[in-house]
Amino acid sequence: MWFSFSSFLVTAVLLTTTYGQLKSTGLSLKFNGVDYYVSPYSPGNVSFDASLLNKIPSIFGLKPVTVVQQPITAAQLPALVSSWMQEDDVFQAAFLQAVFLAGAATNQSNSPEGTTFTVLALESTVPSGPYFLDTNSGFLHTVYRLYDDFAGSFTESLLQTPEGTFQTLSAQTSTTATLTIGVPSRLYFTPSNEKPLAGVRIAVKDIFDLAGVKTSNGNRAWYNLYPPANVTGTAVQRLLDAGAIVVGHQKPSQFANGEQATADWVDYHSPFNPRGDGYQDPSSSSSGAGAAIGSYPWLDIAIGSDTGGSIRGPSQVQGLFGLRPSHGLVSLDHVMPLATSLDTAGFLVRDPKLMDTANTVIYGSNYTSITSGALQYPKTILTYGFPTNASANTASDILLNFTRSLAKFVSGNVSAVNLTTLWSENPPAGAQNTSLSVFLNTTYPTIIAKEQTVLVRDPFYRDYAAPLIRWAYGDSQPPSVLIEAVNNKTIFMNWFNTQILPLSSDPSQCSSNLLLYPGSTATQNPRNKYLTTPTVPFGFSAGRISVFAEVPDMVFPIEQAASFSNITQHQEYFPISVDILAAKGCDGLLVKLAKDLVEAGIIRKPLTGQTIYGGDVLMKREAEERGLEQLRYMW
Ligand SMILES: *[C@@H]1O[C@H](CO)[C@@H](O)[C@H](O)[C@H]1NC(C)=O
Ligand SMILES: *[C@@H]1O[C@H](CO)[C@@H](O)[C@H](O)[C@H]1NC(C)=O
Ligand SMILES: *[C@@H]1O[C@H](CO)[C@@H](O)[C@H](O)[C@H]1NC(C)=O
Ligand SMILES: *[C@@H]1O[C@H](CO)[C@@H](O)[C@H](O)[C@H]1NC(C)=O
Ligand SMILES: *[C@@H]1O[C@H](CO)[C@@H](O)[C@H](O)[C@H]1NC(C)=O
Ligand SMILES: *[C@@H]1O[C@H](CO)[C@@H](O)[C@H](O)[C@H]1NC(C)=O
Ligand SMILES: *[C@@H]1O[C@H](CO)[C@@H](O)[C@H](O)[C@H]1NC(C)=O
Ligand SMILES: *[C@@H]1O[C@H](CO)[C@@H](O)[C@H](O)[C@H]1NC(C)=O
Ligand SMILES: *[C@@H]1O[C@H](CO)[C@@H](O)[C@H](O)[C@H]1NC(C)=O
Ligand SMILES: *[C@@H]1O[C@H](CO)[C@@H](O)[C@H](O)[C@H]1NC(C)=O
Ligand SMILES: *[C@@H]1O[C@H](CO)[C@@H](O)[C@H](O)[C@H]1NC(C)=O
Ligand SMILES: *[C@@H]1O[C@H](CO)[C@@H](O)[C@H](O)[C@H]1NC(C)=O
Repeated sequence: MWFSFSSFLVTAVLLTTTYGQLKSTGLSLKFNGVDYYVSPYSPGNVSFDASLLNKIPSIFGLKPVTVVQQPITAAQLPALVSSWMQEDDVFQAAFLQAVFLAGAATNQSNSPEGTTFTVLALESTVPSGPYFLDTNSGFLHTVYRLYDDFAGSFTESLLQTPEGTFQTLSAQTSTTATLTIGVPSRLYFTPSNEKPLAGVRIAVKDIFDLAGVKTSNGNRAWYNLYPPANVTGTAVQRLLDAGAIVVGHQKPSQFANGEQATADWVDYHSPFNPRGDGYQDPSSSSSGAGAAIGSYPWLDIAIGSDTGGSIRGPSQVQGLFGLRPSHGLVSLDHVMPLATSLDTAGFLVRDPKLMDTANTVIYGSNYTSITSGALQYPKTILTYGFPTNASANTASDILLNFTRSLAKFVSGNVSAVNLTTLWSENPPAGAQNTSLSVFLNTTYPTIIAKEQTVLVRDPFYRDYAAPLIRWAYGDSQPPSVLIEAVNNKTIFMNWFNTQILPLSSDPSQCSSNLLLYPGSTATQNPRNKYLTTPTVPFGFSAGRISVFAEVPDMVFPIEQAASFSNITQHQEYFPISVDILAAKGCDGLLVKLAKDLVEAGIIRKPLTGQTIYGGDVLMKREAEERGLEQLRYMW
């Protein structure tokens, strides 16, 4: 009885629901062996004589075409196309079978390869580049090339809508347990003063809300509990307004706390560091950012956050430029906090020039780009924690050579400083005769735990293993300890920013000194190790200086050195980097220094791949060296 009543109901519903809602989420296809995604969105339509396109293959009524807005003749196409092939990884010559040429009369001509292509008149203003033309409607659909996130660095593959909101990019290429990321043709975009980041492909740490999609904070329960964000925060919105294209959300460690591969990664698998043997810890918490910028030439820049080292760690071990900016340069609304008094947002890049442009966009008037202005470099170079014996190992030799080259470059001198000693000799009022390492020992864990438990944990009452130990530390301390911790931080900041790294009285120099400490020294931290449980991050170290003093701290990839990998049983190359600090607000000075050192040939822009000088990541190199057939017989 119940069953028949139920099926009657279903029938009735089916009968009354005549039409369903159909919404395209795009389409993926292969064209000449390349994986593409056809956006459901269109920048405009064209009118054309369909009979001229008969010979061009189509899928679901979509035909590959090219739009050329440049005022050229068909005869000039080959030159244009060869420059396109240089600058864009999405376009390929096969899109030239039909060319909509601005102002041209419909015509037939010969392509550079000698195959026939059709030239059609163009009256639309859609940007130049490859498209898939819907021959039924006349709408041109934008084309994305699809790439495998083989480093496992993304949590979500995203499509930016024309309104600047986000939806999932519904495409998957053949790969194993990784996402597929889509990047639009670079030909659609022309950077301008208004849109200096037009077409720049950027990935966003999955703690920054993006309107239309969910944020995970590196935690599955969080992702599933909350609805999609309806607002993109100030920082990322500025990038979008400047024309940047967000291609996805990237893996942070849980709640942006420090985690080591792989056991700490309870919810998501740690991304893969592409350098060396390919099995090194990518560091955290902007882990996806570092792994991706070290792996993918098709990705230009990643935005991460740094509270206690989360931009610098991944930059150091992946051999990238990464800036923890001065504190407070941009509002972090709609970004998960760790500790508002310490949190910063900044970029990981291979090219310091692009970092300068992106900094100008995101920090606005709080950032002074001095990449072209007159500037005096500080002549005093302070080193902290540097090796003293160049023959001890290759990394020591390289670090010391770098300080000499830098000193020569700025016509200055290097001197080693020991903050512990300087503090004891000249302690600030309020230090209570306490050594620096005791004074700041509990400051960092207190601030992050006390702030994040209130701002994040308490509203979200689920328990998850890794951050739990840090939150538990916060609970074990009385409320007054936060005030004490912030007070200690402030005493250190005022001491450091007057005694060690004050602003220069000369505004064209900005910072009185530069302070250097070793970032990474080509040591290994392989991910196939069973480690101890996460600990509370007590202590003071060079990496905490910028955290407490609010000064900019930028990672410079300077070289690499070989060491024996137990994983490959070969010598592999691992990055060596130096962190350089300047006075608070002198962020532009550091970025200019990076650019100038690259131009002077003292350091090089790192490339993607197995080494900072390029090369396929390990798994691909192996496949190439042995040949696919041999690989198959191995198993
Ligand atoms: C198609 O393009 C023409 C101009 O090329 C324009 O007048 C027309 O409105 C467009 N149609 C749609 C639906 O946008
Ligand atoms: C069209 O073809 C004619 C004759 O082949 C040629 O003179 C003319 O330049 C062509 N137009 C364009 C825009 O290529
Ligand atoms: C966004 O969501 C929040 C929380 O659900 C709500 O209070 C707010 O009004 C929404 N804003 C917009 C612009 O929809
Ligand atoms: C500059 O920094 C101040 C202090 O943090 C902040 O209030 C202001 O909004 C920032 N300006 C811009 C353009 O972001
Ligand atoms: C600073 O000096 C102290 C005491 O001599 C020493 O223990 C410590 O290792 C030094 N620190 C650095 C970073 O050189
Ligand atoms: C420097 O390192 C080399 C190689 O480890 C060692 O032989 C030498 O004694 C060291 N020199 C000093 C002054 O420590
Ligand atoms: C460091 O500099 C010395 C002296 O210029 C040079 O002999 C040595 O090869 C350099 N080391 C490296 C690793 O480049
Ligand atoms: C660097 O040191 C040399 C001598 O060691 C000295 O003559 C020179 O003035 C110093 N330069 C600076 C900028 O301090
Ligand atoms: C400070 O500490 C030093 C060594 O720990 C000690 O000798 C000195 O008496 C202390 N001064 C004060 C004022 O407590
Ligand atoms: C830092 O604090 C922890 C926990 O109280 C303690 O175990 C450790 O010895 C302290 N270290 C220093 C240098 O005070
Ligand atoms: C602050 O500094 C005092 C010494 O003046 C020290 O005893 C205390 O542990 C520090 N507390 C924090 C939370 O940094
Ligand atoms: C490689 O294995 C050996 C032997 O177990 C060990 O001593 C060494 O530390 C390992 N090297 C690295 C880089 O982990």
